[in-house]
Amino acid sequence: MDVKKALTIAGSDSGGGAGIQADLKTFAALGVHGMSVITSITAQNTYEVRAVHDIPLNVIKSQFEAVIEDIGVDAAKTGMLSNSDIIELVADLVKKYNVTLVVDPVMVAKSGAPLLREDAVNTLINKLIPLATVITPNKPEAEKLSGKSIKELSDARVVAKQLVDDLGAMAAVIKGGHMSDEDSVDIMYYDGKYYEFRAPRLESRSTHGTGCSFSAAITAELAKGKSIPEAVKIAKEFITTAIMYGLPVGKGHGPVNPTAWQLIPAEKYKTLQQLNEAVKLIENSSKYVINLIPESQSEIVMALPKFYVRSINDVAGVPGKLNKVKDRIKAASPPEFGLKSALSELLIKIMERYDEVRSASSIAYNELLDKVIRELGLNVSYLESVEGLISDSSKALLHGKGVKESAPDVLIDKGSWGKEPRIIVLGINALDVANKIIKIGSRYVEHLSSIKK
Ligand SMILES: Nc1ncnc2c1ncn2[C@@H]1O[C@H](COP(=O)(O)OP(=O)(O)OP(=O)(O)O)[C@@H](O)[C@H]1O
Ligand SMILES: [Mg+2]
Repeated sequence: MDVKKALTIAGSDSGGGAGIQADLKTFAALGVHGMSVITSITAQNTYEVRAVHDIPLNVIKSQFEAVIEDIGVDAAKTGMLSNSDIIELVADLVKKYNVTLVVDPVMVAKSGAPLLREDAVNTLINKLIPLATVITPNKPEAEKLSGKSIKELSDARVVAKQLVDDLGAMAAVIKGGHMSDEDSVDIMYYDGKYYEFRAPRLESRSTHGTGCSFSAAITAELAKGKSIPEAVKIAKEFITTAIMYGLPVGKGHGPVNPTAWQLIPAEKYKTLQQLNEAVKLIENSSKYVINLIPESQSEIVMALPKFYVRSINDVAGVPGKLNKVKDRIKAASPPEFGLKSALSELLIKIMERYDEVRSASSIAYNELLDKVIRELGLNVSYLESVEGLISDSSKALLHGKGVKESAPDVLIDKGSWGKEPRIIVLGINALDVANKIIKIGSRYVEHLSSIKK
């Protein structure tokens, strides 16, 4: 196995949002082996930097030599380099070992605290930037490095070109996080051409570490051998995801979430597998469940864990639903994400109120079934009350702040808007729902056969 190796040369953020911690998470999420040279230790949380301790030069040098002489480095990045001596040392080492380098010219923390001494800006310009494959300043940093003010994207273009032509970086990306355009647009100048990387500007409090994770993602992709434009394109998608699923922790700017890049696809896979298993179980229990399938067919859907649910695209269902074929139940096709389905929409609403619910299925309703679900001791609620309470927060308050009621097992929908009445079975996952359906179905069959006798 050809393991790609990426190195971050940066400060430690005790809050785990930015710096070394963000970089290593990003390297891991993008599948490269991450290594670190710690230049400073910051005592930091989501809203302030309380202390900074610079690591002695010989220890910084020693960390770098230890990893490069043994493990090797395919690409490296710099983050917080707090003074001229550290910048000079890092520049010497990068030059000596001819390392592919991304320079994130970190000057201030998200909270506003300075992370680079004023006098060090010149050292950055003279010593380090000329060695950079890519530099990634944000707006204030690009202004500082170029001496020009940036008001709109056309200014960013001018400055990006200047950082390449005059300061000697191979490529310059001016990040749009601090701009006010509707999209967050990053402008790159490289090899005589301009590139634009665009993503919707997200409303988020969890933006601690955006710059670090973005430059680390570029570094990881360069380590894998991607071209500069390819690496930046992937990094842009990566950081957009990390911001979208940022972690709501702390009182200030919560950390971005680099692991979302891996966890979401993994959760999608697990969800489809569970739904598939549940469908098989229902098919194999046809003799109990067949009586529960209404003429309009049955549906079964399962959502990603609540934290990742943003829209109906995050709910999986069975295209073509569950059908009666002679005396068997048959799923029309394997489960998929992103189907248009009223049940999926309803599930998302239900999840707003009941955190633990992730799956729902609609089955028939009649008076005997009503009796069965009560006999089985299932927790029954009515659809109107759920929908009503969701839209009416004052009613929800009647249930008491912070008091969690447990989720119902079944919702009875007595036929809203002229539709046929149905029972909606809820559960923590699709298998839980399938098992409840089978329980209902087998008790129902017992009743039917005793009626026949
Ligand atoms: N609210 C947002 N919505 C979408 N993308 C954003 C947002 N804020 C920043 N970005 C993107 O995140 C990346 C980092 O940009 P930003 O300008 O925030 O860096 P930074 O100021 O160096 O961050 P940090 O404060 O963590 O050092 C860029 O790709 C930028 O476009
Ligand atoms: Mg930054």
